[in-house]
Amino acid sequence: MKLLVTGGAGFIGSHVVRLLVNKYPNYEIVNLDKLTYAGNLENLKDIEKNPNYKFIQGDITDKQFISDLFVAETFDGVLHLAAESHVDRSISGPEAFVITNVIGTLNLLNAAVQQWKGDYTGKLFYHISTDEVFGSLGQEGKFDENTSYDPRSPYSSSKASSDHLVRAYHHTYGLPIVITNCSNNYGSHQFPEKLIPLMIHNIKTNRPLPVYGKGENIRDWLWVEDHARAIDVVFHQGKNGETYCIGGNNEWKNIDLVHLLCEIMDDRLGREKGTSAGLITFVKDRAGHDLRYAIDATKIKFELGWEPTQPFRDLLEKTVDWYLANEEWLEHITSGAYRNYYIDQYQNR
Ligand code: NAD
Ligand code: TYD
Repeated sequence: MKLLVTGGAGFIGSHVVRLLVNKYPNYEIVNLDKLTYAGNLENLKDIEKNPNYKFIQGDITDKQFISDLFVAETFDGVLHLAAESHVDRSISGPEAFVITNVIGTLNLLNAAVQQWKGDYTGKLFYHISTDEVFGSLGQEGKFDENTSYDPRSPYSSSKASSDHLVRAYHHTYGLPIVITNCSNNYGSHQFPEKLIPLMIHNIKTNRPLPVYGKGENIRDWLWVEDHARAIDVVFHQGKNGETYCIGGNNEWKNIDLVHLLCEIMDDRLGREKGTSAGLITFVKDRAGHDLRYAIDATKIKFELGWEPTQPFRDLLEKTVDWYLANEEWLEHITSGAYRNYYIDQYQNR
């Protein structure tokens, strides 16, 4: 079995590649990644020499390149994770999101249909998506597979568009597909512009902790290794044409989560209790900030037997410890380009 993983040098993709390479020595795992600011081959150092792993640097928005790749290599499955993934960047520059997330997905779909259309047996196009396509919840209720799409940021609307295209290729051309919509992930190797690694980094370096608005927004946090495990399960056991919602059953108000991180970091850094919380700074809210996301993951639990690992605090401590033990990783990826992004994003908030 030869599998193409797109975006395998990113946060979630690197966990998926690691799991597949280690668990399936007989599979060939091809990681296609452009290596944007968010892609980092250091994420895969531990498996890069495995004989069943190959990296190809390339851009999913390059139609000719993708089409040639699918002629040169015969894939049995595609696990598509490559994307522009950060909401704040989508607000300041939406175009890249449409080009990568919509056109890039379209190129992969066309190449898969082109290569497989004679015989779809044993083939699968797996599109990895987000719960943000469903919009924003009030204080009650959860998203599930029957929730209507209502994306509200350029990021989520570009992901929603790509989900629609994937379903359209299933209905129109018979392409075998599965889609998963997952909640917020946390864990090792996440680029430090997302909430949890950003807060850990700022607490460590005694910098302000920028909480948007009043910190009342709620996210459902899932450990990234649980997401990778779910992706493995869905790829092998998911039903053709189906969608599965994946979540942590673990809702946190941003401000409470930041306080918990401060508490763990005070302990780890030997600071007096309450010291790091003094760094919390409320800043201008994100435009169109979705209030709440939460997933009802009943379907994947009952149909495929997947459940998230608990307890959250242990996994969060493990995450904090990883970032503290991997300062070099952080230094390498927080390049000049990242520093400029940080200044633009936070200087006037
Ligand atoms: P990430 O930003 O960390 O990684 C994205 C990867 O895609 C990077 O390695 C980047 O180099 C690569 N990439 C970007 N543009 C590319 C292009 N044009 N061609 C080839 N490669 C390209 O993102 P992530 O957090 O790991 O998310 C991965 C996927 O999972 C995304 O599709 C995202 O929408 C989805 N998702 C993320 C979360 C989350 O909490 N992070 C939750 C649910 C779903
Ligand atoms: P983020 O990690 O960007 O994920 P998403 O927007 O995809 O859910 O943000 C998680 C939550 O944290 C979101 O409600 C925005 C908030 N947030 C802050 O309050 N401060 C920050 O500096 C960042 C990056 C996010």
